[in-house]
Amino acid sequence: PVLVVDFGAQYAQLIARRVREANVYSEIVPHTASVEQILAKDPAAIILSGGPASVYADGAPSVDSALFETGVPVMGICYGFQAMANALGGVVAQTGTREYGGTAVEVSEEGTLLAGSPDEQSVWMSHGDAVHAAPEGFEVLATSAGSPVAAFENRDKRLYGMQWHPEVKHSPLGQKALENFLYEGAGLKPDWNPGNVIADQVAAIRAQVGDARVICALSGGVDSSVAAALVQKAVGDQLTCVFVDHGLLRTGEAEQVEQDFVAATGVKLMVVDARERFLSALAGVSDPETKRKIIGREFIRVFEDAAREVVADAGAHGEDVKFLVQGTLYPDVVESGGGEGAANIKSHHNVGGLPDDLQFELVEPLRTLFKDEVRAVGLELGVPEAIVWRQPFPGPGLGIRIVGDVTAERLDTLRAADAIAREELTKAGLDREIWQCPVVLLADVRSVGVQGDGRTYGHPIVLRPVSSEDAMTADWTRLPYDVLATISTRITNEVPEVNRVVLDVTSKPPGTIEWE
Ligand code: XMP
Repeated sequence: PVLVVDFGAQYAQLIARRVREANVYSEIVPHTASVEQILAKDPAAIILSGGPASVYADGAPSVDSALFETGVPVMGICYGFQAMANALGGVVAQTGTREYGGTAVEVSEEGTLLAGSPDEQSVWMSHGDAVHAAPEGFEVLATSAGSPVAAFENRDKRLYGMQWHPEVKHSPLGQKALENFLYEGAGLKPDWNPGNVIADQVAAIRAQVGDARVICALSGGVDSSVAAALVQKAVGDQLTCVFVDHGLLRTGEAEQVEQDFVAATGVKLMVVDARERFLSALAGVSDPETKRKIIGREFIRVFEDAAREVVADAGAHGEDVKFLVQGTLYPDVVESGGGEGAANIKSHHNVGGLPDDLQFELVEPLRTLFKDEVRAVGLELGVPEAIVWRQPFPGPGLGIRIVGDVTAERLDTLRAADAIAREELTKAGLDREIWQCPVVLLADVRSVGVQGDGRTYGHPIVLRPVSSEDAMTADWTRLPYDVLATISTRITNEVPEVNRVVLDVTSKPPGTIEWE
């Protein structure tokens, strides 16, 4: 693989994704990894990421100069560029001027890294320190107002670096520079794509699972569905998927899993109809945190019962159930400090408190993949598009989109309004543009309206369309007025309990995406 040394997580993940977009497989390693640990991974090339620190700050992460003697091609970006210059005897200095945002650089020499670049280009910078003199043997390729040395390379030693961020879209020629490094500088071939993962994972899953049986909690979301489809491809009927219908799903979602997903993948599915059970557990409860706790607790109990049933059934046939499928993705792995070793923990963390007599080893076939790659794998495995492209939907479902206590009637009202909003957003071609659009029923609020000849006293529905990269922050989406108008007219006409539709125009922060 190409190893991205992580000096700052958000940068490293983006670089790793861009490398994969160039059809070269990449992995992230922490900056604390030693040169031996890095070489043990047999890297085809190494990229040092950007990071928040100054190379002169106390405790700033440094780069062992031995890394540059290994013969492996290295590229340094931003902080990684400065750390590289510093380690090889160049001069890094505090300039007093910070370059931040779109910045013009002059290219004096294309070299390998900047082949195909115009003499002047706009790039994305974010740094305080700057490289003032390149190390011996390096050729300076570019300069900017704040960076006397903005890019350099040593072709003989296959060492490259740039002050700007080629991984962000605000550096229009950034991907080209990355590809120059990968293809020309490091001599790599663009022969990887997410689909390659399928064959590898199928083999790995077979080796891990052997003849044992495997279970999976299927939610209808992208990750658990694609993980299940992969495991099914590997071990077929050894896998049992458990789908808990808690009655808090949106219109058509249970059918999507029970019919479309099963038809497309051939997964063996056990459906547990727990709608009544969740309704009675939630009766009279309006506090959001209490609702969440109840839904989480009931989910575990229902899943636990189902798992016991699968275990007992397997036992009757003399088989062993040892494995639980989880749709863990690469960002979770990187962010939990891992990459390695975390595979054999009990299921407790993700499915939450399964009892000790139900212990499973985890099967995590997506742990090397980013979300967009999971989607590509899902499409290749034939998972229905409606599932592959599903927007985020919270585990507690519509239970936390009814402000007030949850009843069967209120769920029906919300489901009807939600179905209309989703249908119109899809019709307007806005699904990929919006991160998600919670539709919320203010069950404890009533307002006066007039419909037909009569006065009404109904409930408001809130539309909460948001744009976001990662759900940590979000902005409200400026939906076209005519789409909003259609949704509003249809909901108030077609859903009798609703006489008002309002739009939530709050960003996050201060508002969260969900209302509860
Ligand atoms: P908030 O409301 O915190 O939501 O801005 C951020 C993202 O997380 C989703 N969300 C949840 N997902 N269980 C989940 O699986 C939950 O309890 C939960 N609460 C919020 C929300 O839909 C958004 O994508």
